[in-house]
Amino acid sequence: MSKPLEGIKIIDFTHVQAGPACTQLLAWFGADVIKVERPGSGDVTRSQLRDIPDADALYFTMLNSNKRSLTLDTKTPEGKEVLEKLVKESDVLVENFAPGALDRMGFTWERLNELNPKLIVASVKGFSDGHHYDDLKVYENVAQCAGGAASTTGFWDGPPTVSAAALGDSNTGMHLAIGILTALIGRGQTGRGQKVAVSMQDSVINLCRVKLRDQQRLDRVGYLEEYPQYPHGEFSDVVPRGGNAGGGGQPGWVLKCKGWETDPNAYIYFTIQGHAWEPICRALGKPEWISDPNYATAQARQPHIFDIFATIEEWLADKTKYEAVDILRKFDIPCAPVLSMKEIANDPSLRASGTIVEVPHKERGSYLTVGSPIKFSGLKPEITGSPLLGEHTDEILAELGYSKDQIANLHSSRSV
Ligand code: COA
Repeated sequence: MSKPLEGIKIIDFTHVQAGPACTQLLAWFGADVIKVERPGSGDVTRSQLRDIPDADALYFTMLNSNKRSLTLDTKTPEGKEVLEKLVKESDVLVENFAPGALDRMGFTWERLNELNPKLIVASVKGFSDGHHYDDLKVYENVAQCAGGAASTTGFWDGPPTVSAAALGDSNTGMHLAIGILTALIGRGQTGRGQKVAVSMQDSVINLCRVKLRDQQRLDRVGYLEEYPQYPHGEFSDVVPRGGNAGGGGQPGWVLKCKGWETDPNAYIYFTIQGHAWEPICRALGKPEWISDPNYATAQARQPHIFDIFATIEEWLADKTKYEAVDILRKFDIPCAPVLSMKEIANDPSLRASGTIVEVPHKERGSYLTVGSPIKFSGLKPEITGSPLLGEHTDEILAELGYSKDQIANLHSSRSV
């Protein structure tokens, strides 16, 4: 099966998570992604949080599948020359170095554009260009704090809380992938490349859109009726942390199921969708609530929503999370079990859909990774293992026209 991005060559000058997540996605869809890494050490994640001595860490392998690895010291004259050749032959250069690092290396946008006017240069930075923090180095949690996610996550009586989901890293990488694909289509129209820049702060803000909605509602009316603070608690002038409340106008909460005392994930998420109130009452064996004026409307329910959740927890007390969901699904109630990573790793449906895949690795044996969350009717991304450091160096240099002797010289000068 041919892949839509076949023929697109990408210089993957990325490290850690945000950049690699972007280029990995493009590699799944057929792009030739050449990961450029410093000789000897490579991407820092190769050695971070290792679970097998001397083998690439899962942090690296799970973000760099389907790529080729070229070791190259881009600060030596020989290394710069190799990168220049590569730039001339490539469609996209992706990087997520600290602000100014690429310029200090001598590869400014002007220089890259001069070398190859068709090249798309895609960057991740912590803050957007011109922002008063645009000189800062940024990691995941910094972005979550600067993007409004931390101030609105957690419980009202606790501190700002970061999410386990990589809102700053992988999410930014996904935004960048959309930018690159858009620029590729744009290049088809104009024949020219362009700069594509995504900041981690902006990408987090984009996902916190509904919290900016809430800030404006709060400014206007002074309360937010779907938050647990309403109607008994106090609101200040900023969007509060709402715990596990449903954010979209459908009250919801994480509720205990059988076994919660010993199993940290024996919970379901239960949503009280307005028009599903009648089936909810029937599922819970509370038909009298259907017409009771204290319960019949969303507005009437809100003042005692936590009493309602407590009643649902009584109903859940003798049911596992799976049993509960199996009953509730028959009543069309939006709900799901709270799944641990162990359950996700072994979920047969996720294995069958290719979302969780087992891939081989030359040093590690096989490992689990997350495959493409995007499913196509005409493409089934095949996930391969990540490359060893410099595994494809000679092959790529030969493709660039270097002879065996020249390649040997590059090795002995430690430029590759
Ligand atoms: N050959 C020679 N030098 C190389 C190289 C190569 N192949 N690859 C990287 N380098 C150099 C860089 O040019 C830079 O040199 P300089 O400081 O002299 O300019 C140096 O390695 C370090 O790069 P830097 O990006 O500063 O790494 P860091 O480990 O200090 O910082 C981050 C890491 C992630 C904090 C920083 O890169 C950053 O803020 N990136 C933007 C936001 C981002 O993507 N964050 C991470 C999300 S997962």
